[in-house]
Amino acid sequence: MNNLKVKDKKMEEIVAFAKEKGFVFQSSEIYGGLAGAYDFGPLGVELLNNIKKSWWKANVQKKPNYYGLDSAMFKDPRVWDASGHTSGFSDPMAECKKCNTRIRVDKELEKLGISADEKMSEEEINKLFDENRDKIKCHKCGSSDFSEAKAFNLLVKSNLGDFTSKESTPVYLPGEACQGIYLNYKNIVDSMHPKIPFGVAQIGKAFRNEISPRNFLFRTREFEQADTQFFVKPNENKEAFERIKRERWQWYLDLGLSKDNLKWSQHENLVFYASDAWDIEYNFPTYGFDEIEGIHDRTNYDLTQHTKFSGIDLSFNDNGEKFIPWILETSMGLGRVFLAVLSEAYDKEVIGGGEERKVLRLKIELAPVKIAILPLMKKDGLRENAFEIFEKLSEKYNCTFADTASVGKRYRKQDEIGTPFCLTYDYDSKEDDSVTVRKRDSMAQERIKIKDLEQYFANKL
Ligand code: GAP
Repeated sequence: MNNLKVKDKKMEEIVAFAKEKGFVFQSSEIYGGLAGAYDFGPLGVELLNNIKKSWWKANVQKKPNYYGLDSAMFKDPRVWDASGHTSGFSDPMAECKKCNTRIRVDKELEKLGISADEKMSEEEINKLFDENRDKIKCHKCGSSDFSEAKAFNLLVKSNLGDFTSKESTPVYLPGEACQGIYLNYKNIVDSMHPKIPFGVAQIGKAFRNEISPRNFLFRTREFEQADTQFFVKPNENKEAFERIKRERWQWYLDLGLSKDNLKWSQHENLVFYASDAWDIEYNFPTYGFDEIEGIHDRTNYDLTQHTKFSGIDLSFNDNGEKFIPWILETSMGLGRVFLAVLSEAYDKEVIGGGEERKVLRLKIELAPVKIAILPLMKKDGLRENAFEIFEKLSEKYNCTFADTASVGKRYRKQDEIGTPFCLTYDYDSKEDDSVTVRKRDSMAQERIKIKDLEQYFANKL
């Protein structure tokens, strides 16, 4: 149980903590930092990988009719014409006439409580913008003198393989990871012979030229998505959609997010081909509730488009019955979920003597380091004997070995990064072949025989 409630937590503090402890760094920091890009540090990459493992287990390993995939990021440029990204993947942007700072008009209108989104036409958005211009201020200079809102395409272009001409067709970085699944639908059908319905799951990078990247990992220009696409017979979508919604909600609870910090939000404005769309939102400290995952009923749009643009028939043959499958999608932003997990786990409490203890209350399966091995002293053979235990346990678990500062200080350091167990080798250990195991949340300690440690942790990790 956390002591701090969401209202007691400040995102600014969590961002500083993430940097200080080696979870997340700004990209290219020594050059002043590149907006909208972040690097995961030594502890961050462990936490990120543990979130991915949990997702993969739930969506691939535990599901007999779901298949895993890892597709290339570069794709034939026609993919993005078929998907509608080259023509319609844009956000409404306006520029401050005084200092040229760009703003995202739909987000500014939302801040005023006006329902607006990127799916509106330029005309619709400009009407709302004009009615509210005086209330919208430039983030940099405070002026309200903006250009008209214009659709700004978010695809990131590359010149892959273009060494000579200036006019060749650009190759795009993926605007969404799921297109790799649609492109491999036929390969999976032909190689794995699935029965319909079936799912394909993938974790992949996406890139968007966001007009105003903001809120740390929440809106970045490079990010990772964990997607599932579930292929069903036409009109056999409703039951599967409800099942998928239930499972995705439960996964977040299993990850340790509290149900009070999660909520559903149904889309009011659907894209023209979708038949239903829901977001799962998380209550971020300081930012409030916002989307971490989208669950979309995309009908037969994607495979119909790729059939049209590629000329390859992507219909499914179910014992002689041919049809283009409908697709139910789940798409989660890993950076956003990482930030939700870190925010949820971040806690402080006052312990004996009025001391404040910072503790990251991560679920054990997510903790970057599972066991810290601490020799009481570096001398008298304690270090060497403790290191032997480290070598043995690190065969199975991600362990750390720390032999500087007092044991009390070392415990606090491990609490801060969420290590669930500390193990101390002291002078008595030489006599009784036992160590002290101390638990992160309760701080309770027990003496365990060294020969029983593997069994002890096998029951807990
Ligand atoms: N294929 C569907 C799709 O891409 P989306 O709602 O645009 O749908 C899915 O994105 C998820 O990706 C979002 O719920 C969010 O978690 C994450 N996401 C989208 N844009 C992002 C950005 N600029 N930075 C970080 N995460 C982002």
